[in-house]
Amino acid sequence: MPAAAFAPAPAAPAIAPVRHQRRHQLRADFRVLRGLARAALDTDRPLMAHVVVTRRCNLACGYCTEYDAVSPPVPLDEMKARIDRLAELGTVFVTLTGGETLLHPDIVAIVRHVRDRGMTPALNTNGYLLTAARIDALNDAGLYALQLSLDNLTPSAISKKSLKPLRGKLRLLAERARFRVRVNTVFGAAPPDEALAVARAVHALGFDAKCSLARDPSGRPLPVDAAARAIYDEIRALDRHGTSVFSEDFQTDLLDRGQVTWKCRAGARFFTVCEDGLVHLCTPKMGLGAKPLADYGVDDIRAAFDTPKPCAATCPVAYAHQGSRLDGWRDQPLAPALPAPRVPGRVHLTVVR
Ligand SMILES: C[S@@+](CC[C@H](N)C(=O)[O-])C[C@H]1O[C@@H](n2cnc3c(N)ncnc32)[C@H](O)[C@@H]1O
Ligand code: SF4
Repeated sequence: MPAAAFAPAPAAPAIAPVRHQRRHQLRADFRVLRGLARAALDTDRPLMAHVVVTRRCNLACGYCTEYDAVSPPVPLDEMKARIDRLAELGTVFVTLTGGETLLHPDIVAIVRHVRDRGMTPALNTNGYLLTAARIDALNDAGLYALQLSLDNLTPSAISKKSLKPLRGKLRLLAERARFRVRVNTVFGAAPPDEALAVARAVHALGFDAKCSLARDPSGRPLPVDAAARAIYDEIRALDRHGTSVFSEDFQTDLLDRGQVTWKCRAGARFFTVCEDGLVHLCTPKMGLGAKPLADYGVDDIRAAFDTPKPCAATCPVAYAHQGSRLDGWRDQPLAPALPAPRVPGRVHLTVVR
């Protein structure tokens, strides 16, 4: 999720939000644009940090390497210290992720702390634990955006993030959420026509829908055949936002040419903080060059900003592209110095299924 960057352009919901919801979102959008404008002038500032609040998950998606069944939540005091450090670094967006974020007993307090420290909080969730009371609490805590994962129509062995069990949660969100909501579908987790049906249903409810290419544990996109590609194009055509700093045009390049040309700013403009408080380049590159967030500073940011990444040409990670686009015109002068992965995926944590 971007997990998750969110386009500030207002959507046109089928279930219209009441006026104060729109006003609330526009005020939040203004804050985000101000933060982005400041960061555009200062390349020492991270734009987005993805922060793991717990590795534990209540599901076990077949394509996912980012969860286990046993990890405890990161203690609230520890989370607050990490958030404080991100604020000191001048971070704009903090996306809380997991595992399943709503398993964290203090998730609302964590969102509030991000907001209190002047940053913009976003949250990735599989949605199963959403309730009316939780949505209200997240509203009050100042959540800016929520990304709900939804892969197929009915639960399968690969994914239970399905429209049938989650339609009620989407309705609750449409009725109560004062934050932005976007649905993310992993393209390749289900037959492509199901992904299209999900996208149509999500748009009908008034939410934004995006499709992420499924990636293998080393972070490369899984192949997409011609029939699936045609459906992918149909899904993209439903998108209201078109080209912007948040666009996903890089996925078209990956599908057309197997490659994309860009300058990855991992470790600088965006990075992932794992449950152990270590800074990783991005989620698929867990374990490469990890350093405690408490010790991570401007020198690390500058070095990472200037270093081309050997994996960039085939990278399908949306938040990486979005977090790098602002600086596409700036140089990247240093030779790649990052070690090759010792094993694919996360290297400091064993996945327990
Ligand atoms: C790791 S999950 C954590 C938050 C929450 N449990 C959820 O499912 O949204 C964050 C996002 O990563 C996506 N994801 C996980 N593994 C993936 C993979 N191999 N390829 C593409 N997206 C993936 C999920 O679908 C979800 O949208
Ligand atoms: S994608 Fe999300 S819901 Fe699925 S196993 Fe991974 S962390 Fe859990």
